[in-house]
Amino acid sequence: MELPSTSSVILGIESSCDETAAAVVVDGKEILSSVVASQVKTHAPYGGVVPELASRKHIENIVPVTRQALLQAGVSEKRLDAVAATRGPGLVGALLVGFSFAKAFSWALGIPLIGVNHLDGHLASAFFSSPAPEFPFVALLASGGHTAVYHVVSHTRAELMGQTRDDAAGEAYDKVAKMMGLGYPGGSAIEKLAAKGDPQKIHFTRPFVDKSSFDFSFSGIKTAAGRVIREAGERLDEEMPHIAAGFQQAVADVLCHKLIHAAKTRECRHIAMVGGVAANRTITGMLRRKAENEGLVLHVPPLDLCGDNAAMIAAAGFFMLREGKTAGIESDVYARVPAPVSKTG
Ligand code: KG4
Ligand code: ZN
Repeated sequence: MELPSTSSVILGIESSCDETAAAVVVDGKEILSSVVASQVKTHAPYGGVVPELASRKHIENIVPVTRQALLQAGVSEKRLDAVAATRGPGLVGALLVGFSFAKAFSWALGIPLIGVNHLDGHLASAFFSSPAPEFPFVALLASGGHTAVYHVVSHTRAELMGQTRDDAAGEAYDKVAKMMGLGYPGGSAIEKLAAKGDPQKIHFTRPFVDKSSFDFSFSGIKTAAGRVIREAGERLDEEMPHIAAGFQQAVADVLCHKLIHAAKTRECRHIAMVGGVAANRTITGMLRRKAENEGLVLHVPPLDLCGDNAAMIAAAGFFMLREGKTAGIESDVYARVPAPVSKTG
């Protein structure tokens, strides 16, 4: 493919958890390819991600997935301007596979390496919604590992406003799904089941933590769901849709309330929801209606860019590269977010 020589072509690599992904993105906005090799089948029998197995699968997949991304993009590796890879947070063994591969690849090509914070990657996925949000905006990141609200002031600057004190929203979905015997990961299974249930039939207390804070808590809803599941006994099959609907309504109410409250506090008209849970179009539908009532504009990435992917890593990498934020060959991965959570690269 012929690209103007002024365009910046970035190869993104993601391997922080159970997806091996590679993507080619031009100028942080035009996705030429986005390949995701999911390991769901590998981990499903264990009811969650097994770190050792994840690393092994990443090793198997990283080269074919990267080849496929370059092939689909129609771009030769010589045309790449930089390689951006997830540096953390995530599973160290899994991160090491993608980040070491990116180091070697960029070194061999003589192009810059960019170490991207996975959470900054999710935030950058908001720029793929169309139209993209206007700065400053408030973003809710809800995934299997994190649930947090950020005040986003530029492509590379975001301030953490609040985060979960216990489980992430996606984690609560996965745990409740497991208790219902719905398999792993359980987010979309619960969403489907909830569509057949009455969200008012079983009420779950909404944990707003302190009213004024933007912190979340989901372990109480999860525990309450576990109790209702046990108490249902023989009626479990008929109760399951109502439990799923009640649980989802409680999670959605908390997420919507905190995000809208954050937007009002920071006087932002634009809001975004990103991360795996943003794939839940029942929740984003509720959020859109509530946002519109408040005069707010909601931005959600396309479905395939809500969960882990490498296009968001390439996009975040592009904005970092513009500011000269590259990583040296000696840079290492990190399992946890260096405090404070925000734009550490
Ligand atoms: O962003 P992601 O792919 O990985 C992390 O960075 O964690 O998010 C995965 C999470 C899982 O917990 C999964 O159950 C949840 O996103 N998820 C959903 C839906 N689809 C995926 N949660 C609720 N409803 C969905 N439709
Ligand atoms: Zn993620």
